[in-house]
Amino acid sequence: MKNNDARSAQELRQQIDAARVPVHVAVIMDGNGRWAEQQGNDRISGHLHGVQPIREALTAATEAGVKYLTLYAFSTENWNRPKAEVDALMELLVRTIAGEVDELDRNGVRLHAIGDLDSLPQGCRTALKQAMDRTARNGRITLTLALSYSSRWDILRMVRGIATDIREHRLDLHAVNEQLIGQRLSTNGLPCPDLLIRTSGEQRISNFLLWEIAYAELWFTPVLWPDFRKQHLFQAILDYQRRERRYGLTSEQLPAS
Ligand code: IPE
Ligand code: IPE
Ligand code: MG
Repeated sequence: MKNNDARSAQELRQQIDAARVPVHVAVIMDGNGRWAEQQGNDRISGHLHGVQPIREALTAATEAGVKYLTLYAFSTENWNRPKAEVDALMELLVRTIAGEVDELDRNGVRLHAIGDLDSLPQGCRTALKQAMDRTARNGRITLTLALSYSSRWDILRMVRGIATDIREHRLDLHAVNEQLIGQRLSTNGLPCPDLLIRTSGEQRISNFLLWEIAYAELWFTPVLWPDFRKQHLFQAILDYQRRERRYGLTSEQLPAS
């Protein structure tokens, strides 16, 4: 089974048009709890099994030539889950980041994070900072973890920052444009996602990158996150390459590809 998976991943990868790979892929990693429940285990075991798929997604993205991979790992709303689950997730986060940093560095991955990082436990902040510092000069792919992140949190922060700067006469109202808004969001420096993937069959955005996905292609799969493998990322990219991104124009107006 494993060998078949690897072969089919390889075959799919070869079908990808290297000239039209999405630059930025964002993923809502969903379904850990349901996966665990299906196995008769507690939700936390689903989160533990959600780590290997992250390695797979990162490897597949790197192999395909994706330059930015952004993973929704913990939302602002997820703080409201039972304390034992939140604690387990935070502990898993520290352990995973600390355990993976060498491998990330070896593979040319730059680790980055967005969200209300100050709200994370001290151990998480330290592990994150160390891993980000260590990998800061890598350029093969940027892996961004969205942690204690929600898009409305980010937009609210951005609006307050702009309003304050206008009030203090540091900013002119007429200088507020789409570019400035993008620069004031926590995703500043990342291009907008070209492709947004959500696993687990849910077809919603759950407060992720609302501004940034204005023209992203959406790809939903019933696969639960712990079952996500390289082949699924390649499938998503191939599906993306079959689409026509028109940005409001007609097909005829688009440059011939
Ligand atoms: C995604 O899986 C992981 C996080 C949100 C942290 P879930 O834990 O949401 O799994 P389901 O959706 O309950 O199955
Ligand atoms: C979205 O999943 C958040 C993450 C994947 C981190 P949720 O499971 O929290 O989203 P809802 O509750 O199904 O919308
Ligand atoms: Mg969920």
